[in-house]
Amino acid sequence: MRKRAGRSMAWVFVVALGLTLPATAVVWAGSDKAPLSKEAQAGKKLYQANCAVCHYADQTANKVGPGLKGLLKNKLMPDGKTPATVANVLDRIEKGAPNADPMPMPAFKEKFSKTEMDELIAYLKTL
Ligand code: HEC
Repeated sequence: MRKRAGRSMAWVFVVALGLTLPATAVVWAGSDKAPLSKEAQAGKKLYQANCAVCHYADQTANKVGPGLKGLLKNKLMPDGKTPATVANVLDRIEKGAPNADPMPMPAFKEKFSKTEMDELIAYLKTL
């Protein structure tokens, strides 16, 4: 009798665990997307207005240019040879890629202020 009660308690435990684990996983998955800082939010707007036509932010597949997911978390830029540093990414944004195929990437040096460049980088770091 005692043994039985022990066993059914064990089942209750297993079932409860089965119900709570997926719920916990959902919470974890949600917290992965930490809210963006003010700076990164401003950068996201700039990105959507100026970059999103040619670059996916949430994948690495090509749109016109390479997808930028993980850009500043990776070791190398999408070209597979340039180190993915803030300096190199800024350089690319300032100069663009005038000879790129199938369409050149415009240079943004004249278009963005220093503050806007910082905002854009803050956002790119979150990808
Ligand atoms: C008209 C399309 C277009 C727009 C707009 C554009 N890009 Fe690009 N971008 C490209 C193309 C095409 C390439 C690939 C260049 C190459 O192959 O050399 C590229 C490459 C890049 C790279 C990778 C460079 C490397 O060396 O791997 C980064 C980073 C980048 N773009 C960021 C941006 C950001 C940030 C913006 C917005 C401020 C932007 N791009 C706007 C077309 C665009």
